[in-house]
Amino acid sequence: MSLYLVLDGVDGCGKSSQASLLTAWAIDRGHDVVHLREPGSTPLGEALRRLLLDRDGAAMSPLTEALLFTAARAEMVRELVAPALAKGKVVIAERCFLSTLVYQGIAPTDESARVPLPLLRELGRRAHGITMPDRIVVLDLDVDVARARRAHQNPDRIEARDRGYHQRVREGFLGLAREEAHCAVVDASGSHEDVQRRLRAVVEPLLPRPR
Ligand code: TYD
Repeated sequence: MSLYLVLDGVDGCGKSSQASLLTAWAIDRGHDVVHLREPGSTPLGEALRRLLLDRDGAAMSPLTEALLFTAARAEMVRELVAPALAKGKVVIAERCFLSTLVYQGIAPTDESARVPLPLLRELGRRAHGITMPDRIVVLDLDVDVARARRAHQNPDRIEARDRGYHQRVREGFLGLAREEAHCAVVDASGSHEDVQRRLRAVVEPLLPRPR
């Protein structure tokens, strides 16, 4: 028995910190855990991450972004997620195809540039194959609170987009979480400890028996 768990949500929702806390907790409970992030985790994925997020990098259309994020995902799933699950491990991944649906399909300001959701869903299916997340937890947070949380760090190319974009990202996640299979929404407001407690309540029943 394995578990492929994803944390997703607006920039600044705290998914990296929460994924690290969750990883340490699950290891403590005897699980073999692999913590991954999209885009990234493989050499090609990390190279694509730099291309996608570098603020001084080339401008690109939402379609180009979707293809590059999907390429990074396809590599990560094939090289790291599927083999880990085959060994009965717990995979805790930051982000998944839901981010592409939201950031490239719903949030772009120019409606004509939004990538049609059916195409993005097909790309997601191709990248994942049979290795789909067992549970996607959307960490939901007010965009102004999220922006304040990341105020101390230099925004990357996508974080630097305007408030309206990030508001549509938040609404996009909430809308899709109601429609897509295997999604849950967790309130990401409050302290790290509060959010971690809420997350563990969702994740605990899903964990396989420790090895
Ligand atoms: P993120 O992991 O949030 O970076 P960090 O935690 O280091 O700030 O993700 C990188 C950015 O990429 C984030 O702004 C969301 C965006 N993104 C997309 O636009 N589409 C996608 O498919 C994915 C996976 C991420």
